[in-house]
Amino acid sequence: MTMKYHIITFGCQMNVSDSERIAKVLKNIGFLESNSLEDANLIIINICSIRQSAIDRVNGKIKSLSISVPHPSLNKNRKILLTGCILKKDKINLRKHCNGIFKIDELIKLPSLLKRLGFKIKKNDTEKNKHYLQVAAEHQSNITAYVPIMTGCNNFCAYCVVPYVRGPEISRPADDILCEIKSLVKRGVKEVWLLGQNVNSYSLTSANTRTGNDFAKLLKMVNDIEGNFWIRFTSSHPKDLSREMIEVFAKSDKLTPYFNLPIQSGSDEILKLMNRPYSVKKYKNLIKQTRDAFKKYRKGIEKEIAISTDVIVGFPGETKKYFKDTIKTFENINVAFAYISRYSPRSETAAFKLKDNVSHSEKKQREKRLLEIIEKSALKFNKKFLNKKVDVLVLKKQKDFYLGKTRHYQTIRFLNDNENKIGEFVKVKVTKIAPYGLEGKIQ
Ligand code: SAM
Ligand code: SF4
Ligand code: F3S
Repeated sequence: MTMKYHIITFGCQMNVSDSERIAKVLKNIGFLESNSLEDANLIIINICSIRQSAIDRVNGKIKSLSISVPHPSLNKNRKILLTGCILKKDKINLRKHCNGIFKIDELIKLPSLLKRLGFKIKKNDTEKNKHYLQVAAEHQSNITAYVPIMTGCNNFCAYCVVPYVRGPEISRPADDILCEIKSLVKRGVKEVWLLGQNVNSYSLTSANTRTGNDFAKLLKMVNDIEGNFWIRFTSSHPKDLSREMIEVFAKSDKLTPYFNLPIQSGSDEILKLMNRPYSVKKYKNLIKQTRDAFKKYRKGIEKEIAISTDVIVGFPGETKKYFKDTIKTFENINVAFAYISRYSPRSETAAFKLKDNVSHSEKKQREKRLLEIIEKSALKFNKKFLNKKVDVLVLKKQKDFYLGKTRHYQTIRFLNDNENKIGEFVKVKVTKIAPYGLEGKIQ
């Protein structure tokens, strides 16, 4: 009888990409994917711990599937394995609900673990890979593909679990990355995301170069791959963003004019407490350099680059005055989009020792206040697109509308003209704008 697996993924694009590698290992050893939990012999849950709310959701899911509780609609012999970003204290609680926990960087040993759990597995050569990123991915989409260029993080921002749960930075060899992208483009993939927690410290030699220049070289190599496709990347750390990288970014036409550069706080004092070694002035200077480079090297609407950022409100010690500094910074930097998070204390991190002294309601207030400013700057950015014709990658259909992304990463919808356009590039004239989306007419 063929064994069936079901993977549940929480967290960021990196975890989604890791799940695609898990799927490949399972297919190689004879498992089939199941769309439903009910008939799965093996359930793998890929976990995120970035905020307490993330792990709470994971916990709820795991308890509802737990092997320690009878569950009439699930396969009674099901095995449950956990992986991903898990803090030590959570591992202890989670163990009783599952048959095992494996570290994602030990993915190549998954076949042996499954054998020990009693599964009959097909002969395979998974263990010949030295590192888990060498395992090929079972890409889920024919339109968008995630390609990790590195894993781990060396930065130890005071609030963040990533260095603890993913370990130190390891860069993937450029040849492997280029080879994977070439085969994706051959298959017709239209959008490639290069992933890493700090892509600017990508290293071609695995040595800690930390200048941003190796990433610039990689971008150039990816941009030189033949074919009609877009390149996006995330995340960048301001401290490792080099002038050379900005130049290459602006000059490389396949690289879309969308740049996520997390600021985390608009107050120098809070940035210091967060162990983010740059000032607001330096951040502003970097986005000015980037905007100037796009004005210089790009044409038409591509002269405008969409800057997005991440920001945390209510970090320990964020007084009213420091939050005001963040407000002022956001009024000044005019981002096209921002991901706002309320600070969530995480065990093992440096900030966990600090008193979480901004109340929950105050964090919510600050989030709301910041959101108002971001909505204004997003609307201001989107106004530049009114009546312009833009290239759109069509991603899905929702009722009568097609939904897609512009090169600036705005969501855009337009009416269906009865032809299937999913997975295609089309031209759309923007007829309506809002802070979080555009509407248009296909041309
Ligand atoms: N590597 C990226 C960088 O340098 O900014 C960030 C990656 S992290 C996976 C994604 C986002 O989660 C961060 O940018 C931060 O805003 C948010 N985040 C991380 N830890 C957090 C915490 N303890 N509380 C609230 N938000 C957090
Ligand atoms: Fe976390 Fe900082 Fe690393 Fe980003 S750079 S993953 S925020 S420790
Ligand atoms: Fe979460 Fe791990 Fe990503 S903690 S945000 S899944 S790197």
